[in-house]
Amino acid sequence: MKKDVFITVRGLHQRFGENHVLRGVDMEVYKGETLVLLGGSGGGKSVLVKHFLGLLQPLEGTVEVEGEDISTLNERQIGPVRRKIGMMFQNGALFDSMTVGENVAFSLRQAGEKDEAKVKQRVQDVLDIVRLPNEAGKMPADLSGGMRKRVALARAIIDHPACVLYDEPHAGLDPITADSIDRLMKHLQRDYEMTNVIITHEMRSVFRIADRAIFLKQGQIYWQGTPEELKCSQDPELKHFIEGNSRPDEGWS
Ligand SMILES: Nc1ncnc2c1ncn2[C@@H]1O[C@H](COP(=O)(O)OP(=O)(O)OP(=O)(O)O)[C@@H](O)[C@H]1O
Ligand SMILES: [Mg+2]
Repeated sequence: MKKDVFITVRGLHQRFGENHVLRGVDMEVYKGETLVLLGGSGGGKSVLVKHFLGLLQPLEGTVEVEGEDISTLNERQIGPVRRKIGMMFQNGALFDSMTVGENVAFSLRQAGEKDEAKVKQRVQDVLDIVRLPNEAGKMPADLSGGMRKRVALARAIIDHPACVLYDEPHAGLDPITADSIDRLMKHLQRDYEMTNVIITHEMRSVFRIADRAIFLKQGQIYWQGTPEELKCSQDPELKHFIEGNSRPDEGWS
C-alpha cells in the first residue's frame, strides 16, 4: 500500500557558526503515522523539526509540506502552513502572565479569530481532550509539570492541525503521567487522524506508540524502521541507545 507523504526533507543542512548541526537529512513523514525521532542530546532533533514549521530556513536543501516547498515562502505565505502543524515546544513555552485558557487560545487569536464564544468553546473542547476540563482560569505557575505538558498539548492542537510536533513530551514526567500523554497522542492519531512527530528519549513510549522510528546521528539519518526492527537490531549504536548505556569510548567508564 502506498503511503501518502505529509512532509518531505531533502538534503537539509543547517549550521550555527562552526557547528554544522544538520549534514544532509533526507526523510519523510507519512500522513497519519506516529513517527518518533531519536538521537543523542545536542544531535539536532529540535533544530530539524523547527524546519518543518519554517522557524528555521535551510542552509541547503528543501522541506516540503504536502508538496509545497516551504523554504521559498515569506512570513505571510507561511501562515497557512503553520496552521497545518501544531508544535508542543521542549520547554512548554507557556506565557506565565496568561491564564491557561489564554495560553491555549493564543494561536486562534493570532490567526485572527474574533468570535469570543467560538474561542471559549474551542478552548473548552481541547482542555476536555487533554483531561483538564476545569483549569482554564489557573496560572501556569500553579500547575504540575504533567499538567503544563497537557496545556502545551492543548495549545498545539486548538487550531485543528493535521500534524503535531512534540518536542520531548515525556521529559520530567513520572511513568504514569508519561503513559497518559502517550494515550493522548495515540487518541489524537486514531480519532482525529493526526500525524504525530515525537522527539523523545523515553524508549518505553517508543515501543508502545510509534509506528516508525528514525535515529539521527551526526546530522544525518543513521537508521529508520519499525519499533520491532529497532528492538531486534544488532547495531551496537542502537543497542547502546536503547539500553541507555553510555559508550566506553566516551571516557566516563
Ligand atoms: N538558534 C541556535 N543558535 C545557535 N546554536 C543552536 C541554535 N539552536 C540549536 N543550536 C545548536 O544546535 C545543536 C543541536 O541542538 P538541538 O536543540 O537540535 O539538539 P537536540 O537533538 O534537540 O538535543 P536534546 O536532546 O538535548 O534536546 C546544539 O549544539 C545547539 O547548541
Ligand atoms: Mg531538543
